[in-house]
Amino acid sequence: MTTPQRRSRATEAFYGRRKGKSLKAPQAEALSALLPVLRLDLSSPPPDPLAELWPVPVSSTRLEIGFGGGEHLLHRARNAPDTGFIGVEPFINSMAKLLAGVENEGLQNIRLYDDDATRVLDWLPDACLDHIDLLYPDPWPKKKHWKRRFVSRLNLDRFARVLKPGGRFCFASDIDTYVNWTLNHIAAHPGFEWTARKASDWREPWEGWPGTRYEAKAIREGRTPCYLEFERLG
Ligand SMILES: C[S@@+](CC[C@H](N)C(=O)[O-])C[C@H]1O[C@@H](n2cnc3c(N)ncnc32)[C@H](O)[C@@H]1O
Repeated sequence: MTTPQRRSRATEAFYGRRKGKSLKAPQAEALSALLPVLRLDLSSPPPDPLAELWPVPVSSTRLEIGFGGGEHLLHRARNAPDTGFIGVEPFINSMAKLLAGVENEGLQNIRLYDDDATRVLDWLPDACLDHIDLLYPDPWPKKKHWKRRFVSRLNLDRFARVLKPGGRFCFASDIDTYVNWTLNHIAAHPGFEWTARKASDWREPWEGWPGTRYEAKAIREGRTPCYLEFERLG
């Protein structure tokens, strides 16, 4: 049997655009100067302990998949300087914007990856993360495309492997069918439990929530956000 080959760009779980409008000069500069420094090198094994990924001491670790405009990642990194963040985003314009923010603010606690997050998940060691954020993942509203959604049994297995026992997976979406899809996948997975006890737990965002660009658009267009938090059992 042959090992399935990953396509070089649109890989296992990435179906979106890689490039948009041409970059503004400061963003292009940040991309060429800073991305090579902060980009994870998946061709080498991860450091042991993982905390050595960041040049500053970190006491917890957090992964954000598909950070888009980067508002949430920058806000969390700014407010938790002793947490090591990994941000993953294949859309180059978003990566460039985030890098310009990292440079302006001099943040030391962020590492990045500019392709499919499944590659990072497969590279990370077991039980190394405290937290995973998947905020407004591409909704794929048409039923025939649901299999492209980032939440799948395979990706929940990946999350379960890299999260520490008691670690959290936080998911936000404004698309009812994706919320139900995620709850059904979690219910079928032995490694996770939904932490909600009352309606406000899924209706109200997490503490210190800055919002995201996609969320603001969803609210403007009349859709209601839902916030799900799952605990890694163990
Ligand atoms: C709907 S946008 C939401 C962006 C941001 N989280 C927000 O709330 O504004 C989804 C993002 O996920 C990214 N994405 C899609 N597939 C991905 C994958 N396999 N790995 C990492 N990011 C991915 C897309 O490029 C896009 O920026």
